Amino acid sequence: MTVWVGTSWKMNKSLAESRDYARGLLAGLATREAGMVQPFVIPPATAIAAVAEILAEDGRVLLGAQNAHWEDSGAWTGELSVPQVADAGARMVEIGHSERREHFGETDETARRKVAATLRHDLIPLLCIGEPTGVKDAGGSTDFILEQAARALDGLGEEQLARVMIAYEPIWAIGEHGRPATVDELEKPFAALGQEYGGRIAGLLYGGSVGLDNAAALLGIQHVDGLFVGRTAWDLKGYLRLIDIAAGR
Ligand code: 13P
Repeated sequence: MTVWVGTSWKMNKSLAESRDYARGLLAGLATREAGMVQPFVIPPATAIAAVAEILAEDGRVLLGAQNAHWEDSGAWTGELSVPQVADAGARMVEIGHSERREHFGETDETARRKVAATLRHDLIPLLCIGEPTGVKDAGGSTDFILEQAARALDGLGEEQLARVMIAYEPIWAIGEHGRPATVDELEKPFAALGQEYGGRIAGLLYGGSVGLDNAAALLGIQHVDGLFVGRTAWDLKGYLRLIDIAAGR
């Protein structure tokens, strides 16, 4: 069984820093038994092509984009299309991260269009879902995330669904203001996601304050196929350590 360990760098790293990280990652992987671990890296759009060039030397690390538009081209100032990020070397597109929903007006409907566009071009959609604190406090987490996923994946056949990845990232657990989720808190939502999507999608990941101290426990939750990491993996040493943990070392 594949264990996914991926990182989005969000709005961080210069070109030089991105290249250094990618080179260091290949060097680090060359000295490791990564076993069933599938690493993936999602740099800022400015660095996708440069990182792709380096990662192509090896082929083990999957490369993604943090966002892509649902149209293939046109008058969409400031946007990038799926063919464009594919042209730069991305094979995965992150869709509907809570930061994009909160600050850039993304919705389940824009996520649905982006998932469809990503599949149309044979890239892997990584759909992010997650509930805000208020919903969690009201006991509505599971219903909320199942609804988010259903809306974004509406209309897909089983063959298309089989190429989709989902990252469950509770908003209250993400980022420097987030609180790490406990295993107890995650068991129910993952049971529900597993019941709905287990065996039907390419992978079900957890994200939100993943650290070196909780990664093994999070990977032990039933239906968790991997981790999607921000801060801990922005530092290459942290990322390699997470890969080791996922590989069982
Ligand atoms: P952190 O790991 O920094 O909490 O970020 C998680 C995340 O948003 C990954 O997409």
